[in-house]
Amino acid sequence: MRHLMSPMDLSVEELDELLDLANDIEKNPQKYAHACEGKKLATCFYEPSTRTRLSFEAAMLNLGGQILGFSSADSSSAAKGESVADTLSVISCYADICAIRHPKEGAPLVASSRSKIPVINAGDGGHQHPTQTLTDLLTIRSLKGRLSNMTIGLCGDLKFGRTVHSLINALIRYEGVKFVLISPDELKVPDYVKNDVLLENNIDFEEVIRLEDALPKLDILYMTRVQRERFFNEEDYIRMKDFYILTKSKLRLARKDMLILHPLPRVNEISVDVDDDPRAVYFKQAQYGVYVRMALILTLLKEAEKDA
Ligand code: CP
Repeated sequence: MRHLMSPMDLSVEELDELLDLANDIEKNPQKYAHACEGKKLATCFYEPSTRTRLSFEAAMLNLGGQILGFSSADSSSAAKGESVADTLSVISCYADICAIRHPKEGAPLVASSRSKIPVINAGDGGHQHPTQTLTDLLTIRSLKGRLSNMTIGLCGDLKFGRTVHSLINALIRYEGVKFVLISPDELKVPDYVKNDVLLENNIDFEEVIRLEDALPKLDILYMTRVQRERFFNEEDYIRMKDFYILTKSKLRLARKDMLILHPLPRVNEISVDVDDDPRAVYFKQAQYGVYVRMALILTLLKEAEKDA
């Protein structure tokens, strides 16, 4: 059974096919309107979500399928102590495919071990968020026309930010990709990303603290939120939370064709007056998330049928 735990589970060729399919879905939605008739998607979310859960549900509904699930651990039998593996054994009897988000790193992988249906990691703690990465790649490729030869600035919480970890893993496979890692010392990318991914693969990167120093160099600026829920104490969060605020005036330092992405939700790190700038594509990015999740559901269900 094929699951999706990390963007690295897909080869570059498979990734390209998936993004091509997502672009075709965007252009010809009617062609896919009945593609999943009779199929059900379960969304098992043990952690809050707006975009990921609802875009998965919108994706399945757009494909003519149906949805079921829960949006918090409290409203499931996890509150009674049920394990994720047991939950997935049961969900396998009710649905054809499942997207699971969990605060513990590795929980979706454990869940997939007992599942008879494809399981998609919809975010596990500070580890990975592969469908956000697919969304980011589709946004960049659709709006820039390429994924190679690009300087990408990743700004904010690079320590706990699972979207950043997944995106770095995915992008190192493309030629000529350089990273500018913009964070305070306390929120730098973890050593397992720096050593095992960037240094191990001879990827060009630099670490800077000031956003202003990085802005003129970038093709893409990927802003992230400082995540209150990942901090062990409130004081550290308060000290860090407004470290970066992208404003209209700072944007004057950036290239005219730089794109601003953000996985959202946004708190203060992008001023709302930036939203009208043509370079701000984070809401468009959320729309791309629906197309790419439609493509992923179609692809995994097709593979599951082949294996049956
Ligand atoms: N980008 C993202 O994962 O958003 P949600 O937490 O709202 O799903």
